[in-house]
Order: sequence, then C-alpha cells, then structure tokens
Amino acid sequence: MMTTTLVLLPSFFFLFFHLLLLFSVTLPFTTQAWNAQWQLLHNSIGMVAMHMQLLHNDRLIIYDRTDFGLSNLTLPNGICRHDPSDKILKTDCTAHSLEYDVATNTFRALFVQSDVWCSSGAAIADGSLIQTGGYNDGERKIRSFSPCETCEWQETDNALVVRRWYSTNHYLPDGRQIIIGGRRQFNYEFYPKKKTEHAKPHMLPFLVQTNDKGAENNLYPFVFLNVDGNLFIFSNNRAILFDYQNDAVVRRYPEIPGGDPRCYPSTGSAVLLPLRNLEAESVEAEVLVCGGARRGAFQLVAHGVFKQALDSCARIKITDLNATWEVESMPMGRVMSDMVMLPNGDVLIINGAQSGTAGWERAINPALEPLIYKTNGSVGSRFVLQGASNIPRMYHSTAVLVRDGRVVVGGSNPHEKYMFSNVSYPTELSLEAFSPYYLDPSFSPLRPIILHPASHANVTYAQKFKMSIRVNGTLVPDLLSVTMLAPPFNTHSFSMNQRLLVLSIGQVNVTGNSTCEFEVTAPGSAVLAPPTFYMLFALHQHIPSHGIWIMMP
Ligand SMILES: *[C@@H]1O[C@H](CO)[C@@H](O)[C@H](O)[C@H]1NC(C)=O
Ligand SMILES: *[C@@H]1O[C@H](CO)[C@@H](O)[C@H](O)[C@H]1NC(C)=O
Ligand SMILES: *[C@@H]1O[C@H](CO)[C@@H](O)[C@H](O)[C@H]1NC(C)=O
Ligand SMILES: *[C@@H]1O[C@H](CO)[C@@H](O)[C@H](O)[C@H]1NC(C)=O
Ligand SMILES: *[C@@H]1O[C@H](CO)[C@@H](O)[C@H](O)[C@H]1NC(C)=O
Ligand SMILES: *[C@@H]1O[C@H](CO)[C@@H](O)[C@H](O)[C@H]1NC(C)=O
Ligand SMILES: *[C@@H]1O[C@H](CO)[C@@H](O)[C@H](O)[C@H]1NC(C)=O
Ligand SMILES: *[C@@H]1O[C@H](CO)[C@@H](O)[C@H](O)[C@H]1NC(C)=O
Repeated sequence: MMTTTLVLLPSFFFLFFHLLLLFSVTLPFTTQAWNAQWQLLHNSIGMVAMHMQLLHNDRLIIYDRTDFGLSNLTLPNGICRHDPSDKILKTDCTAHSLEYDVATNTFRALFVQSDVWCSSGAAIADGSLIQTGGYNDGERKIRSFSPCETCEWQETDNALVVRRWYSTNHYLPDGRQIIIGGRRQFNYEFYPKKKTEHAKPHMLPFLVQTNDKGAENNLYPFVFLNVDGNLFIFSNNRAILFDYQNDAVVRRYPEIPGGDPRCYPSTGSAVLLPLRNLEAESVEAEVLVCGGARRGAFQLVAHGVFKQALDSCARIKITDLNATWEVESMPMGRVMSDMVMLPNGDVLIINGAQSGTAGWERAINPALEPLIYKTNGSVGSRFVLQGASNIPRMYHSTAVLVRDGRVVVGGSNPHEKYMFSNVSYPTELSLEAFSPYYLDPSFSPLRPIILHPASHANVTYAQKFKMSIRVNGTLVPDLLSVTMLAPPFNTHSFSMNQRLLVLSIGQVNVTGNSTCEFEVTAPGSAVLAPPTFYMLFALHQHIPSHGIWIMMP
C-alpha cells in the first residue's frame, strides 16, 4: 500500500491542485503542499553576488564591481588594486570576485583587476568562463576564468571593439560568442573574432528601434539560439529572429499584447522553454517572458511613484511562422525576478520586487515568494506559490541552479555604495539556497541515482549512450526521462545561455528490483547543443536525480 501511495503522489498532487482550482473562486493560486526550503549558506560572503556562473567543477564564480568602494572580503597575500581613474578608491585591497564551492560551502577571494560592473559572459567549450566588458577601465576587456584549485582571472585589454556595458552574450555552435548591444551600443560583435572580420561592430537597427527615450528598455536583451541556427533577440516589448551569419533579420515577432517594456531597466526575464523531440524533422522552440514594468514606470520613480510591476507572462512558439503571444497572469506583479530552469522542465521565478523598476533606489515591495511555472500545465493553473524567504533580493541579485537541484541565491544592493543601515533595503552580502519541492524528503523513494555514466563523460552529437539508474523505492520504468542543461551566466535577472534539452530514451530494461538501464540519444547537432559542459539529469516521476557533468561533443 505504501509504495502505491508514493507512486501516485505527483498525479495526486495535480488532482488536488485542480480540485482546489475548481472549488475556489477566491484562491486562484495555490501554495505547494510540500515544503520548499530556504537555507542560509552564509550570513556574509563579503560582497554582493551581482553576477554568477556555475562551472563544471561545481564552483560558482561570483563578482560585483570594483567601484563600489571597499567590499567586506580582504584579498589574500596583501594584493591590492591600484586604479588612478577610480572615483571612489585609488587603492583597494578588498575582493570583488570570489569562487564559491558548492560541495564544501566555502569560498575564496579572487582578484579581478578591472571594473566588471554590469558585464556579461558565457561558459565555453573547454569549460572556462569568458566574461566581457564592464565599466570604466573594464569596458573593453575580456576576462577568462578556467576552473582549477588556484586559478585566477586572466584579463585582455582592448579585446572588444567598443565598450560593452549591459550587453547580452550568447554562446554559438562554432564555439565563439556573440556580444549584443549594451548602453549606447546599437550593434554586436563576436569573440574571438575571425581573421577576416573588421575591427568594427555590426550595426543592429532593432536596438535603435526598441530604445525608449529616457528609459532605454533595450539593455540586457533576451537572446536565445533557435533550433534553426538563428538568434531570437527580444528587446523592450518585441523580438526578431536574426541570422547573425548574414547580418539579416529573418522575421519580426509581434509586440507582447499591452506593449509594456520587459528589458532593463523595466527588467522582466525570459527563458527558452525545454527543447524536446530532438530527432523530429522540425523541432519546436518556445520562449517565455515574465514580468517587467509599465511604460513610463522608470521616469515616475523620480517623482516618488512606484508603479506596480507587470504581472503578465507571455509565451510564444518562436519556430511558428505566424507566432502569437499567449498571455497569462502571475499571482503578483514582478520586476527584476530571475527565471531559473529546473531539471524537470519547470521554471522557477525568484527574487525581484513588486513595484518600481531596476536601478538605484528604484523599487519597493520585494517579491519574497518564488513561483514555479508548470511548463506542462494548462493555461490558468500553471503558477504555484512557494514559501517566502525573509531576505529581499531586488536590484543586483542572482539565482543559479546547482547540480544537486538547489538554487543558490545571492546579492541585492539597490544603492550606489554598500549601505548596511538606515535604509529600507540594506546591501545584502548573504548567500542562500532555495530547495524546490522535488527535494522534499517525501520524494526520496522516487529520486533516481545515476550509476552510469560517470561524471565528466564525453558525449558526441547523436551518440547513443547507455545510462543506468537506481531508485530508492519502486521503479516505474514508464516514468523515466533524461534532461541536460547548459549552466547559464546570470546577472540583472537574465540567465544568458540557459538551455534545457529533453533527450529521447530507448527501451528501459529492468535489471534489478530498483535498477534499470536504457539508451539515451545525445542531441544531433551543435545548433541544438553548442559544445560545452552540460548537467545531465535522470528524472523518475518528474523527480530529478543529482546531475552529472557531460561534455559535448
Ligand atoms: C561590512 O563592513 C562594514 C564596514 O566595515 C560593516 O559596517 C558591516 O557590518 C559589514 N557587513 C557585513 C554583513 O559583514
Ligand atoms: C496568421 O495569424 C493571423 C491571426 O491569428 C491569421 O489571421 C492569419 O490567417 C494567419 N496566417 C497564416 C499564414 O497562418
Ligand atoms: C511534459 O509533456 C511532455 C510531452 O507530453 C512530456 O514528454 C514531459 O515529460 C512532460 N514534462 C513534465 C515536467 O511534466
Ligand atoms: C538616516 O537617514 C535619514 C534620512 O535620509 C537622515 O536624515 C539621517 O541623518 C540618517 N541617519 C544616519 C545615522 O545616517
Ligand atoms: C535513499 O534512501 C536512503 C535511506 O533512506 C537515504 O539515506 C538516501 O538519501 C536516499 N537516496 C536518495 C537519492 O534519495
Ligand atoms: C574527455 O575528453 C577530454 C579531451 O577532450 C579528455 O581530456 C578527458 O579525459 C575525457 N574524459 C573522459 C571521462 O574520458
Ligand atoms: C528483490 O525483491 C525480492 C522480493 O521482495 C527480494 O526477495 C530480493 O532479495 C530482492 N533482490 C534484491 C537484489 O534486492
Ligand atoms: C535492452 O534490452 C533489449 C532487448 O534485450 C536490448 O536489445 C537492448 O540493447 C537493451 N538495452 C540496453 C541499454 O542494454
């Protein structure tokens, strides 16, 4: 009886959820029956987690900016940064970057030599982080960080052809990255550059067309690699499909109904929804954009008016020739929330504020309750409220999924400098972990453990490889699936390069009471899965295993 009950849990949950919806008019959004957990990892890591990237050694690279003044973390060995052009501190012996080790919950200071404020980046084929731009002495820099025990940032001067501040990067199938836009930059460039490329950027008029006077609303555009090899570029309130190899707009998508802006500083967020049926002749791709601010909200803050943030999410099938937006309402308005792809294909919407916009002192009313968006749910019943944190995380906060299924959450500093007292929303140096419902111990009997392959396996395109798993309780072979996720670069509420693929699996052969093996088919091309490290998860009844790392190709 016990096992039967456990096997039925997820469907029972959905039934319960629908019943609630049927019988409750006043309660359109439900709170999850299982406990999501918040865990304080560190009261202080000594700096604001403004940018965050997970690397394949399970370390998070975190950094803020060098012109905040002193951080609360001292650099080791008497290292200091000397910058005569810094307006705040000419000499600074504190760290503005660190490496956090998920497994041991420890961190070490890193020395970043130039200003990385509001920059962008991507993890590349060899697993290192390539970070681009920033401010002041950092605006045309490229920095790389290779994962190892003692590695430090390596910086290259004048590697970008123009300054890049608030740009978006996307990692490409050929192993390069494209760097799009940024403040007063209506253009894009690549890194590294081909020898034949001119030392000037390619113009992108779409960024001019979506630039609002007095608010911009075209910064940190939402960029995704479509399954046809083109880039979906969303700025302000609409998107184009862009052929970056021929510098041509392939398609223009309609405006999101209502026309309100979604990009910085009217910061909403966006994800590419899970890519499935990868062997099909035409793979479908969908994008989800959530939150943002009403048009004019940024200017109104100057007059002390904090408009309620947008509560709408809009979803579009970007592979459809005649795509339209399907709009739904979240339980609350949200600006500056992060959207994190969970291993099971659901989307966590976390952090942010309910009123105002991005920018210093520009938001109030923190959004303390995360939401889970059930990607497969039916319209009107996709949002599930999660338990609240008691720490506001608004401007300059981050959220990143780690291999064990938790989401590490940090940062928040709505002030120009570090301010710890006499303000409503102090500078936040703490680091927390949010555990989604699937980590609840009641799901332990369902949770699979990957026995094979071992982590860091190499997988080539279209390769069929054997996977074996074990579950703690009763195995239901029909309810197994496998996903892989590219670890994104997160800053300013957008996770660049976030990409979840659902892999097809063959016949499941039961090999013991609770073990089985099956064949998994890797994605067929670098357009579907650009070459880099991915986290591979097994799911049993939608409950994910801890991930392992695989390297494509
Ligand atoms: C950071 O340092 C400042 C100045 O030394 C101090 O006032 C503040 O309490 C520290 N904050 C934390 C969270 O450690
Ligand atoms: C595109 O969608 C519009 C509005 O839904 C419809 O009127 C039109 O016929 C569609 N065109 C094609 C080619 O499907
Ligand atoms: C969503 O639906 C697809 C297709 O029906 C299925 O393959 C997938 O497992 C479902 N995912 C979740 C999270 O329910
Ligand atoms: C706190 O803020 C108020 C209003 O901005 C200001 O008048 C006061 O001097 C501040 N107090 C301290 C201790 O900084
Ligand atoms: C399996 O069960 C054991 C004993 O109850 C528990 O310690 C372990 O964490 C479980 N494993 C998973 C993956 O849930
Ligand atoms: C994967 O390939 C790389 C070379 O590209 C090699 O260094 C590494 O050892 C391989 N990993 C495994 C597990 O075979
Ligand atoms: C499988 O289950 C049967 C019946 O419960 C039990 O007798 C047997 O020892 C189990 N085998 C293994 C390998 O756990
Ligand atoms: C599962 O069993 C079938 C039939 O015996 C066999 O053809 C297939 O190779 C097996 N799959 C794996 C992954 O071992």
